[in-house]
Amino acid sequence: MITTKDLTKVYRTRDREVTALDGVDLHVDEGEVFGVVGRSGAGKSSLIRCVNLLERPTSGTVTVDGQELTALAGSGKRAGKELRRARGRIGMVFQHFNLLSSRTVLGNVELPLEILGHSGQERTRKAHELLELVGLADKAKAHPAQLSGGQKQRVGIARALAGDPKVLLSDEATSALDPETTRSVLKLLRDLKEQLGLTVLLITHEMEVVKAVCDSAALMKSGRITESGTVPELLATPGSELARELFPVGGVPSAPGRTVVDVTFHGETTTEPVISKLSRTYNVDISILGAAMDTVAGKQVGRMRIELPGSFEDNVVPIGFLREQGLTVDVADVAAGADAKDAAKDTAGDADDARDAKKAGGDASGLVKEGAK
Ligand SMILES: Nc1ncnc2c1ncn2[C@@H]1O[C@H](COP(=O)(O)OP(=O)(O)OP(=O)(O)O)[C@@H](O)[C@H]1O
Ligand SMILES: [Mg+2]
Repeated sequence: MITTKDLTKVYRTRDREVTALDGVDLHVDEGEVFGVVGRSGAGKSSLIRCVNLLERPTSGTVTVDGQELTALAGSGKRAGKELRRARGRIGMVFQHFNLLSSRTVLGNVELPLEILGHSGQERTRKAHELLELVGLADKAKAHPAQLSGGQKQRVGIARALAGDPKVLLSDEATSALDPETTRSVLKLLRDLKEQLGLTVLLITHEMEVVKAVCDSAALMKSGRITESGTVPELLATPGSELARELFPVGGVPSAPGRTVVDVTFHGETTTEPVISKLSRTYNVDISILGAAMDTVAGKQVGRMRIELPGSFEDNVVPIGFLREQGLTVDVADVAAGADAKDAAKDTAGDADDARDAKKAGGDASGLVKEGAK
């Protein structure tokens, strides 16, 4: 549904150049919710603005629903007629809602319908229908100032749906909301996706958002996508930074000279007694340093950090055994004692990180942390 090929964006100011996108190949399938995560300044907003040609990319192509947008004339406010029509089929939701305070809720949703050329009556009918869809039918006459953040974002979503889009783009739509409101807005996005068959490309610095709604995700760093895939694929990729951030597990070895291994269970392996088999087969004592079960992308996933006696070389065979059982196995590089504080912080989870990141004004400081490599 959305493809970018070798997309670059260079901003030129008088005295310097900033490469915000540096060869981005993105592929979003029809009907999926695709999350792009990354630190502040990684190029996420630039990417989303290039996808709907609010910004004209410096080079590369953008294709949405089979139409190459980069081949159409104009950009931003000077978009040509064809581009404007194509863009009408792409809804956009913003972090700060961008509602007109002088208009009622209904008036805000009617605005894009006016621009699309709908007549007065048709406009009002459609706007009421959209408000119904986002659960705000009773707020039609209210003004934005009388709404909570979550309600404002629902208006923002209703407005984005005015052109019957097939694609919804969202730039940090929940970053200004508290966790509970975030959950309800995400649920709305997920429901709308199912109901209307939307494809959603969303940008976030909160791993909780990816966990709650995304089918696929990509990690952006310095204008490049360094990892991408479906969430189950990512969780099954040894060494995946995204997997580690999605599902952190902490714990430090009890003494030097031990091997610490992070094991991810998914699918059928969640019910297999793999650890006791390992212990029996190789006659090794296994300590569990940390463990968690969670639901990621609607599936049960388990993660465990275990400690084996001896060095990595001593444990090549048992580790191979775990891999043969269909588990994802990462050897964690954590020292005994020294990193205890860091590791404890890691286990505290990404909810705290997300909050810190919010405080830092969107800086995803918790995102790409060094640590259990
Ligand atoms: N209009 C612009 N002119 C010049 N430089 C820009 C412009 N917009 C973005 N940049 C620069 O491009 C880089 C990427 O910015 P972008 O807004 O895409 O990052 P981001 O990943 O969305 O960050 P955040 O998480 O803080 O929103 C940054 O270095 C930024 O300073
Ligand atoms: Mg941004």
